[in-house]
Amino acid sequence: MSIEAQTTLIPPSFFHEPIVFDREIEKLFHASWVFVGFTDHITMPEQYMTFDYFGEPVVIKNFSGTLRAFLNICSHRFSKICLEKQGMGPLQCPYHGWTYDHAGAPYAIPRKKQFGEMGDMSSLALKAFQVETVGRFIFLKSHAVGPNLKAYLGETYSFLETVSHAMGSQLDANEMTIRANWKIVTENTLEEYHVRQVHPETLYKVDIQSSQFGFQGLHSSDQMTFKVKLNDFKKLPDLMQERSWHVEDYHHQLIFPNMTIASAFGTSIAIQQIKPIDAEKTVFTSYVFAAELPNHAGHPVIQAFNSQAVEFNRQVFEEDLVVCEAVQEGVKKTNRCSGFLSKDEERILAFETNYMKMMREEG
Ligand code: FES
Ligand SMILES: [Fe+2]
Repeated sequence: MSIEAQTTLIPPSFFHEPIVFDREIEKLFHASWVFVGFTDHITMPEQYMTFDYFGEPVVIKNFSGTLRAFLNICSHRFSKICLEKQGMGPLQCPYHGWTYDHAGAPYAIPRKKQFGEMGDMSSLALKAFQVETVGRFIFLKSHAVGPNLKAYLGETYSFLETVSHAMGSQLDANEMTIRANWKIVTENTLEEYHVRQVHPETLYKVDIQSSQFGFQGLHSSDQMTFKVKLNDFKKLPDLMQERSWHVEDYHHQLIFPNMTIASAFGTSIAIQQIKPIDAEKTVFTSYVFAAELPNHAGHPVIQAFNSQAVEFNRQVFEEDLVVCEAVQEGVKKTNRCSGFLSKDEERILAFETNYMKMMREEG
């Protein structure tokens, strides 16, 4: 008995139409917990960081140990409040000096009497975003309703704690602008079917033997076995023995919708943020962290290995960029209404199922 081939669920037009992109921001990104960065620069009270969050400027600040996130735009006459990427100090507007508290309300307004009766200060509060952390990872959510971060992540919550614990120093933050829809970039990370064709000189060399998919609600993982083993690298296994995350060969994890984490043997950890800019443009940032090694981090063998890991990652993503942009050209011109998915692309089926479900949501 033959089984009919599985087709893709997301129509090609969804990868380039601006109207679909706008709906994604509202239905999918604003309703999800989205990874936005690391706590490293806001561990101290009064520290803050700013970034673009789907077109909105956001500031996250540490108020006596509690993180709060606000729209980084002054209620007075709409200047941006914090102009630096990172900083320390009050949330004070650079234009006329309005200063905002932990609830986002202005508590100091120069020459306040000149405004007459302004009513309750809370009515002038900055728009707030939900912000939560797991380990060193910061997540943001725009919509006030829905699960907290722990419930949203489910079993991947403890996975992220494990990863965070295993992360040593940051080795790289490689930002690439890709002329492709964010879903093309994400789906590219969810299958290794393309490895032989796209990465013949890099990833293909490790010789993937088997692959085991895991599905955790919206999220999914792939536990791979390589022919290449850690023991093939002379001194490395001994020096790396003290790392806390002993990955069996290779692990890849998607945190829905747009964060991925990968590690070979736990020897270094790669974290990717796939940030949609518009329907046909994505900023892909690949962070590489060394494994936390309390006693051997400075060993020359480890340092040489770490710089190789950075180089390897960069090269692999350069190769992926080319095909992602080729797909972007294709989705605009294809005469077909769907593609095909093999068993090797089962995580894409799960991703597309979850995606379409959220996009159909009413309200
Ligand atoms: S615009 Fe911010 S204080 Fe005037
Ligand atoms: Fe790839």
